[in-house]
Amino acid sequence: MMDLFSQIEEPEREELKRLRKELEEANYKYYVLNMPTLSDREFDEKMHRLQALEAQYPDMFDPKSPTQHVGSDLDKGQRTKDKGQNGKGFETVKHKYPMLSLANSYSREEIEEWVRKLPSGVEIVCELKYDGLSISLWYENGQLVRALTRGDGQQGDDVIANIKTIPSIPWKIERNDIPAFFELRGEVLLPWERFEALNKEREEQEEPLFANPRNAASGTLKLQDPREVARRGLDAYLYYMLGEDLPGTTHFERLETAKEWGFHISDAIKVCKNVDEVMAYIAYWDTERKNLPVATDGIVLKVNNLTQQEELGFTAKTPRWAIAYKFPAEKQLTLLKEITYQVGRTGVVTPVANLEPVQLSGTIVQRATLHNEDFIKSLDIRPGDRVWVEKGGEIIPKIVGRADREETSDPRIPRTPSFPSCCPECGTPLIRVEGEAAWRCPNEAGCPPQIKGKIEHFVSRKAMNIDGLGEETIDLLFRQGLLHNIADIYDLKLEDIAAQERLGEKSAQNMLDGIEASKRVPWARVLFALGIRMVGETTAKKIARVYHSIDSLQWATAEQLCAIEDVGPQIAENIVAYFNDIRNLEILERLRQAGLQFEGEAAEEPQSDKLAGMSIVISGTFAQHSRDEYKAMIEAHGGKNVGSVSKKTSFILAGENMGPEKRKKAEDLGIKMISEEEFLQML
Ligand code: IVH
Repeated sequence: MMDLFSQIEEPEREELKRLRKELEEANYKYYVLNMPTLSDREFDEKMHRLQALEAQYPDMFDPKSPTQHVGSDLDKGQRTKDKGQNGKGFETVKHKYPMLSLANSYSREEIEEWVRKLPSGVEIVCELKYDGLSISLWYENGQLVRALTRGDGQQGDDVIANIKTIPSIPWKIERNDIPAFFELRGEVLLPWERFEALNKEREEQEEPLFANPRNAASGTLKLQDPREVARRGLDAYLYYMLGEDLPGTTHFERLETAKEWGFHISDAIKVCKNVDEVMAYIAYWDTERKNLPVATDGIVLKVNNLTQQEELGFTAKTPRWAIAYKFPAEKQLTLLKEITYQVGRTGVVTPVANLEPVQLSGTIVQRATLHNEDFIKSLDIRPGDRVWVEKGGEIIPKIVGRADREETSDPRIPRTPSFPSCCPECGTPLIRVEGEAAWRCPNEAGCPPQIKGKIEHFVSRKAMNIDGLGEETIDLLFRQGLLHNIADIYDLKLEDIAAQERLGEKSAQNMLDGIEASKRVPWARVLFALGIRMVGETTAKKIARVYHSIDSLQWATAEQLCAIEDVGPQIAENIVAYFNDIRNLEILERLRQAGLQFEGEAAEEPQSDKLAGMSIVISGTFAQHSRDEYKAMIEAHGGKNVGSVSKKTSFILAGENMGPEKRKKAEDLGIKMISEEEFLQML
């Protein structure tokens, strides 16, 4: 008898162990690597199954099981042992109150079930569930002193320097009616607009794209460079105040108070009296959220009364007084009409699914990436299939599966299409570098999209910044045979350009002015503009700081290059290979003749991040330094000097005899004025 039981049990016990491992891994990939592998729904389903199995086999209880703790964003492998630092330069700090997660629900039934367990007649606060990452802000005597990530729920990373770049987060609350200590929790987000701009930029520089704003926000918050963080433009919404001696008896009142103190609290908060009102709120926001500037993935329901909250308490991972309702991810089945292949600037060939157009999250989708050959093979996708396209909160549509098809033995119907063996643009046989998923066209100098892509990169804003030479014009001049490589740009003549249809003399002159101006672009940016594979903007700067001219760089060995911060063996090899190619040397010689900056000391590193993310107006006359010196100081400390006062101005560096108009505007907008002495003190 016993044997029979254990035979039945055995597979379930195995399943339990497997689920633990799987969920642990999924947590790590989501929180630490920023590369989710399961959808939220799949994750929750597996978690439920694991909970059920653990209830069935109490002897297998394990305090380390993913059912017993929240996922962690601390990268344990990188933590240095005893300094409380995590090896990434952030201090790891224990939370005053654990940072928990929320239980999820997906239907009215699940919400009703949750409400049934609450005391009757409770008020429920409905809020939007912002899809970013949680942050805990500590205020001591009104001063922001820490900003901790959730970490493992018990301790988190202090990312205060980065958080201070968020304009809506006050550094100091100047009031005398606030408690000596309080904590505000909320969500850090990268607004859609910023997310799209960031991805566009990354695409231009062939850096990997962020899958969604949440990943982008998380990656951004962990950067070591607050200036870059400031540039990306994070925002935050706050939704939970904690501490002793706080005013108010309800959650709603607390948020109102926080709003009064100057915190950014969403307006979409509603106190509901029953499930019908909750469902109406959900129905409204399920569509309306698409018009919001930031990503949301559900609704959070919280018991309003704080005494009731306290009585309900917490489980090991989640409060009993709150629950999340998750919006269904938008997914559609549609016909895959054709697979086409797109060649990028570095020759990577990407398969693209051409779809029967479908409506998804408010936009019409007709193309989606199929990533690479392995992806197509793993899903066994071929034209004529009906495929699932998903845009759950993300902007880039992806294929996540295919509908079952009727198998046929008709020999005329192809199996999964084989990846092309030659470049669809220039016919050169493709190569696949070992260890890489991508097929690549090696014909760098002769393959049209690669040639045009290199020129587009060369003229782009962060490279040579040549105005008037956009994608279309490049295409036009390429087709006319006037542009074959980046050196040809400097041979363009006014009459050649003006002779083109669409391009009048005026735009031709603009373009030539832009080309002329590019000859003053400093060496570090010229190096970036050359488009050496994997040499991005930052890497180029770091290289230029060590190699002050192209002549010295040209003779550097891979080994020497590897000594530069951020330069690994792969990049070093790419640089060496670039200078070993005679065609590149010819182009470089022509660029040198044209007068480009092939040498120079790279700009000094900023001295501090004290002014990171700030826009500062200089006005009036000064005693101790010149205006230009103050401008340089602002920049050296990570700030931006701007000309006119607006509500985005952080403060005015005000000297003697400040213009009356500026003064009035500053007073109207409540912008602080800082004297010369105060400013110097500040630095
Ligand atoms: S309350 C103890 N309210 O969702 C409860 N969380 O899935 C604390 N989130 O970790 C959370 N919007 O990062 C709360 N309006 C909101 C939220 C919200 C987004 C996030 C938060 C939390 C996660 C749980």
